[in-house]
Amino acid sequence: SCPHCKWSSAPKRQFSSWSHLVRVIAAVFCYCPPLGMESHRVEDDQILASSMSHHGFSAQRGRLNMQVTTNDEDDVYGGGWCADSEEKEHWFQLDAHREVEYTGVITQGRHSETNDDFVSSYFVAFSNDSRDWTVLHDGYAEWLFYGNVDKDTPVKAEFSHPVVARYIRILPQSWNGSLCLRLEVLACPLPNSYPNENDVTPNDDLDYRHHNYKEMRQMMKVINEECPNITRIYNIGKSSQGLKMYAMEISDNPGEHETGEPEFRYTAGLHGNEVLGRELLLLLMQFLCKEYNDDNPRVRRLVDGVRIHLVPSLNPDGYELAYEMGSEMGNWALGHWTEEGYDIFQNFPDLNSILWGAEDRGWVPRIVPNHHIPIPENFLNGSVAPETKAIIAWMERTPFVLGANLQGGEKIVTYPFDMQRPPRTADESMFRWLAMTYAHSHLTLTETYRSSCHTDDITGGQGIINHASWKPVVGSMNDFSYLHTNCFEISIFLGCDKFPHESELAQEWENNREALLAFIEQVHRGIKGVVRDTENNIIANATISVEGIRHDVKTASTGDYWRLLNPGEYRVTARAEGYSPQTRLCMVGYEAGATSCSFTLTKSNWARIRQIMAQSGRKPRVKLKV
Ligand SMILES: *[C@@H]1O[C@H](CO)[C@@H](O)[C@H](O)[C@H]1NC(C)=O
Ligand SMILES: *[C@@H]1O[C@H](CO)[C@@H](O)[C@H](O)[C@H]1NC(C)=O
Ligand SMILES: *[C@@H]1O[C@H](CO)[C@@H](O)[C@H](O)[C@H]1NC(C)=O
Ligand SMILES: *[C@@H]1O[C@H](CO)[C@@H](O)[C@H](O)[C@H]1NC(C)=O
Ligand SMILES: *[C@@H]1O[C@H](CO)[C@@H](O)[C@H](O)[C@H]1NC(C)=O
Repeated sequence: SCPHCKWSSAPKRQFSSWSHLVRVIAAVFCYCPPLGMESHRVEDDQILASSMSHHGFSAQRGRLNMQVTTNDEDDVYGGGWCADSEEKEHWFQLDAHREVEYTGVITQGRHSETNDDFVSSYFVAFSNDSRDWTVLHDGYAEWLFYGNVDKDTPVKAEFSHPVVARYIRILPQSWNGSLCLRLEVLACPLPNSYPNENDVTPNDDLDYRHHNYKEMRQMMKVINEECPNITRIYNIGKSSQGLKMYAMEISDNPGEHETGEPEFRYTAGLHGNEVLGRELLLLLMQFLCKEYNDDNPRVRRLVDGVRIHLVPSLNPDGYELAYEMGSEMGNWALGHWTEEGYDIFQNFPDLNSILWGAEDRGWVPRIVPNHHIPIPENFLNGSVAPETKAIIAWMERTPFVLGANLQGGEKIVTYPFDMQRPPRTADESMFRWLAMTYAHSHLTLTETYRSSCHTDDITGGQGIINHASWKPVVGSMNDFSYLHTNCFEISIFLGCDKFPHESELAQEWENNREALLAFIEQVHRGIKGVVRDTENNIIANATISVEGIRHDVKTASTGDYWRLLNPGEYRVTARAEGYSPQTRLCMVGYEAGATSCSFTLTKSNWARIRQIMAQSGRKPRVKLKV
């Protein structure tokens, strides 16, 4: 056995409350965690191979789950390491940079639409100096491992005992198609090795584990019991398999919208196999609860000043699939879609085409508004997942101001539009600021020397990119949120490894904690206020326009509004049917906190109303076809 291994494959899941967590390690068989081929913790210069078929298939492409980014087979970013077929001897080598205990490898074939290239058998060799190599024996002969049977499914090989060495080599013996390989290596640090930068001792006493559906529900219950005054569990709907999409509300007055208090949301797991966001949100709940009870002033300010909604799992069916297969062992796609095959992120109504079509005809904003664009009548009768419908209803009934969805498989923050078309949103600079806030508060997201997960760095060192110029999609959640509601939403891609090993969770919490908090705090950037009439009645559904920004927001049913804006001076106009518009000059400073900018509208006189009605009566009625 190897007592220094941090985690066994199946820790017994017993706990009464996370703060009194008892971790029972069932050390029957000890597997080491991944060394970090997939996560990119292993750096490019640690990987070497005997040859490559050509430039796009270098050893550095041989990371587990590496993806080709286009269907171009001559892509410079190939779907794996491929050897030069002219060579006779083939090896793929990893240098751990220090002696470690190797316990196994996980192999996968080449990612490709057309080719079926994978290694079907191989030897494994070890060395301390990269000159003298010892091939692993099974007691009788050199141990031949059976590898892959298709190009996508990862296959794990476990050694009978841990092997101490600095270097490991895979020696392919037979393959299908061309010799191509993607790989992860399982290894532990030696018991007495000095700690390196990757070994973290977490600062926060939280539950750093993966949680399946039942465990997630249990965890949320425990948090709710620890912090009954500031938390409330609800669900936003059900998956097609009947699993609930649970939400945790964290606020000083859970269950109600307080006038003037903005609403914020984090969602995760809309692709069920991108699981880090789910755990980060569970950790964030624990953290906020604990720190609130400990009187942490920053957390008190957050909880008292924002109504925070955290939804760890928008696609619970997909998660359960990925979870059953476990970390590293699902392929790139298992659990990505809903049970019925929908990709939730791009299952929303395409309002972009409606807006852009109307803009081209000069109809915006006179005939077609530049915001709160209605959902086309036939949309909900079409191919829409029940999960998507639930999310839409939730977005419509809650006056969210700001949100982010946590995804995986890349290390990047993206902002809308997500659908391709040259003009950017009217709020480009605000969106860039929001994305930047997360990326630059994250401990490693802007370490661009590590490059992006599947290509060279595409963000100019900033860690952020407009989604459409990276991966254009139609009907995205973020575009829908911006065009149908007041809420600005961005996507945060948390890392290359969609399903990080449990032992990575503490480090990932450290990496993301400040960013998660700093991003919520941005909900207070800009102006906010209440629109009332002269008798002090609130006016719901009033339109707030900012001169120079062709995107309005509306007041909530409680008459309050929030308009995210960068520092500056703005001419702001409030309009409501039956009232004369009012324009004010509102300043946004650099200090924290939204500037108060309220309006009192006077009723327009009858003649004026009649005139407006007569004008609108003469307007052509426009039916939009989508
Ligand atoms: C590497 O060195 C360690 C001692 O530091 C030794 O135990 C181990 O067997 C060596 N590994 C190989 C492959 O020679
Ligand atoms: C092996 O490769 C050939 C083409 O080289 C392909 O036709 C065949 O389907 C592959 N076998 C498997 C099991 O994928
Ligand atoms: C909840 O609020 C009540 C009344 O304000 C207070 O007495 C109680 O201590 C609070 N409970 C917790 C767990 O903070
Ligand atoms: C959509 O379905 C509803 C009933 O579910 C029906 O009343 C309506 O006519 C349908 N609309 C279209 C455009 O098919
Ligand atoms: C909100 O105002 C718009 C006009 O700005 C109007 O078309 C819409 O029907 C109103 N919605 C509600 C719920 O009052």
